[in-house]
Amino acid sequence: MPDLPLAMLAELTHRCPLMCPYCSNPQELTARDRELTTEQWADVFRQAADLGVLQLHLSGGEPASRRDLVELVIAAREAGLYTNLITSGIGLTEARLEALNDAGLDHIQLSVQGVRAEIADRIGGYKGGFDRKMQVADHIARLGFPLTLNAVMHRDNLDDLPATIAMAERLGARRIEIACVQFQGWALANRARLQPTRAQVDRAKGIVRDAVEQMKRRLVIDFVPPDYYSDLPKACMSGWGSTGLNVTPDGTVLPCHAAQTIPHLIFERVTDRPLAAIWHDSPAFNAYRGTDWMPDLCRSCDRREVDFGGCRCQALAILGDASAPDPVCRKSPGRAVLDALLAEEGKADDTYIYRRT
Ligand code: FES
Repeated sequence: MPDLPLAMLAELTHRCPLMCPYCSNPQELTARDRELTTEQWADVFRQAADLGVLQLHLSGGEPASRRDLVELVIAAREAGLYTNLITSGIGLTEARLEALNDAGLDHIQLSVQGVRAEIADRIGGYKGGFDRKMQVADHIARLGFPLTLNAVMHRDNLDDLPATIAMAERLGARRIEIACVQFQGWALANRARLQPTRAQVDRAKGIVRDAVEQMKRRLVIDFVPPDYYSDLPKACMSGWGSTGLNVTPDGTVLPCHAAQTIPHLIFERVTDRPLAAIWHDSPAFNAYRGTDWMPDLCRSCDRREVDFGGCRCQALAILGDASAPDPVCRKSPGRAVLDALLAEEGKADDTYIYRRT
């Protein structure tokens, strides 16, 4: 019997005004006419709460692109879920934020692409986006929402890390999540362009160490270093099908946001089968759950229940085999492939492949 999920990420829509080249959405985006309706999402939220989910992350795309966002928050709160809105801020007017506050929205995670308009608007592919975002941050602070700043870092903005942390404090955030880009979806297509250098990463770790010390009790700083420079894999999703699940705009239920890249798995939709049945019984959720599926190298490792073999989608993307040990692992034969990739990256030109809808 699997554990029950604690958190659900609801990708309400893949629509987004920004075009970030590091977007983790799939390269084949779901069209608006295939999105779940308000009532269907409300039903998913009730089913999630019945299954044991406590926290609901409303994401996208840009969730504010859904006109019914306030109704969705009301439905989630009625289901008893803690609601967190993950947003670029574009599309959130002051009146809309007030309505979200009245609806009971618990928390906001605001993404930032850079600390200056020039770089932020270039990365987001949206002129004027930075200024709009700063206005939204003011409204968020005035309404008293608990705020986390989400900063996705890569080669072009990692050197601005001190200014990024200072910006979080200036905007009144309680927490900043500094996540070096994870190479899924559109980010994978831009990997060579976005991969930070080892020197940047080493500097960033020192900056974070000092900032954590200096900002104790003022700002919580969470840092996700880039995988490829680690020696040990991370426990992706805390283990496949263990504590969290994702629902895509058309109701497809996934163990992680990139799972659909694994071609031999069939993912079911919550419109066809109850969420609990999918969680407990679907072959896709059971494919990499626990330790039974592991190759010998992982099964005999004393970290098998620490990292659960790492990231299946990464093993597929780099080695072409989703059941191979995560190539980040120093003990894995796939590590040589990853090192060869790293040696080539950094030589890419200046061009981003922007996300397109
Ligand atoms: Fe799918 Fe890591 S992103 S298992």
